[in-house]
Amino acid sequence: MVVHRNISLLPYNTFKIDVNAQVLVEISDPTELDDIFQSDQFRSMPKLILGGGSNVLFTGNQRKVIVKIGIDGIEVAKETEHYLYVKVGAGEIWHQFVLWCVENNLGGTENLSLIPGTVGAAPMQNIGAYGVELKEIFHSLEAYDVKTGDRRVFDKDECKFGYRYSIFKGELKDKFVITSVTFRLSKKPKFNIEYEPLKHSLDQLGADELSVRAISEAVIQIRQSKLPDPVVIGNAGSFFKNPVIERPHFEALEAVFPGIPQFPISEKWVKVPAAWLIDQCGWKGKRRGDIGVHDKQALVLVNHGGGRGKEILKLSEMIQKSVQNKFGIDLHREVNVI
Ligand code: FAD
Ligand code: EPU
Repeated sequence: MVVHRNISLLPYNTFKIDVNAQVLVEISDPTELDDIFQSDQFRSMPKLILGGGSNVLFTGNQRKVIVKIGIDGIEVAKETEHYLYVKVGAGEIWHQFVLWCVENNLGGTENLSLIPGTVGAAPMQNIGAYGVELKEIFHSLEAYDVKTGDRRVFDKDECKFGYRYSIFKGELKDKFVITSVTFRLSKKPKFNIEYEPLKHSLDQLGADELSVRAISEAVIQIRQSKLPDPVVIGNAGSFFKNPVIERPHFEALEAVFPGIPQFPISEKWVKVPAAWLIDQCGWKGKRRGDIGVHDKQALVLVNHGGGRGKEILKLSEMIQKSVQNKFGIDLHREVNVI
C-alpha cells in the first residue's frame, strides 16, 4: 500500500482537472482494503474509489481518502467446450484485457475495444459500445463490503445491469469495492456487427472474414476518428446518457423536427441520441475559455487545458437547460461529479 499526501489528482483523471487530494492510497491487493476501511487511521474519513478516472469530474479539492485500485492479474477460472471463464483483477486496464482476448482469439470484448479505464469500474455502469454491453459477457464479480470487511460474490442478476447502470450506482452506491470480475468468453464467437458504422469500417479495412481481431481493429478505427484521445485533450467520454422518452413525446417532436434520429427500445419507449439534441442547440465545437464541447462529438465535453471542474459542470447545466427548452427532454449525467 502506498500512501500519498497532498497530491495533485491531475494524472489521475482523464478530464485533466488539477485539484488536490489530502490523501491518496494506492492498493495492489484486496487484503489492503482492511487497512483503509477498518483501521483507526482512515476509518472515520469518507472514501472515494478510483480506477482510471475516466468517468469522473472533480469539482474541487478532495477531503475524501482516494483509494486507487491497482489489483492486477488475469487467470483462467474454468474451461468448458464453448467458453473460457476468466477472472480479472479490478485494477487491470480494460483495453489491455481486450487485447489479451484478441491475442487468445476469445470472443466477447471486441466491440468494447479502447474504452478507457479499469476492469473493476466496467460493471459499475455496465460499459457499452457498438451494440454490446458488458453484461453480455459478465459472469460474476467479487467485492469487498466496506462496512463489515467481508468478501461477497455477485452474479449477473444481483448486479441489476441496465443502460449505463448497475446496483453499484443505485442502492449499493459506495457500499462495495469491486476487487475482481469474472467473464465468460467465447471460444467459438458469434459476432455482433449490427451497428451501422461498424459494418462500414470493416468494409473499409477490407477484412476478408470476421474475426475477434478484425472487429477490434474496426472499433478502434471508429473510436479514434470520432472521440478525443484523453492523452491529447481532457474528457470523460459521453457526458450525458442518451435519453429514453415515451413514443407520443417522440412523435410530437418528429412532427416539428423531421430528421430527429431514434433507436426504438420497445412499443412504448424511444432512445434519442443526446449528441443530436445538443448539436441542434448549437453547442457542437463551442469553446468557453479553457473548456468546451468537442467539435466532432457534441456529447463530449472537453478541457482544452487548465479548465476547472466547476466550469465544466456549469457548461453541462447550460446544455441541459437549452435541450430542455428546445425539446422538453431532461438529460441525465453519465459522468460521476465529485
Ligand atoms: P473511474 O472513472 O475511476 O470511476 C468511475 C466510477 O466507478 C466512480 O464512481 C468510482 O468511484 C467507481 N469505481 C471505480 N472503480 C471501482 C471499483 N473497483 N469498485 C467500486 N467502485 C469503483 N464508457 C462506456 O460505457 N462506453 C464507451 O464507449 C465509453 N467511451 C469512453 C471514451 C472516452 C474517451 C472516455 C474518456 C471515457 C469513455 N467511457 C465509456 C467512460 C469510461 O471509460 C467508463 O465508464 C470506464 O468504465 C470508467 O473506468 P475507470 O476505471 O476510469 O473508472
Ligand atoms: N450525432 C449528432 N451530432 C454529433 C454526434 C452524433 O447529431 O456531434 C448523432 C448522429 O445521428 C449519430 C447519433 O448521434 O448517429 C449517435 O452518435 P454516436 O454513434 O457517436 O453514439 P452516441 O449515442 O453519441 C453512444 C455511447 C458511447 C458509445 C457509442 C458507440 C452513450 C451515452 N454514449 O454514443 O459511449 O461509445 O454510442 O456505441 O450511450 C460513453 O459512454 O462515454 C461513450 C462514449
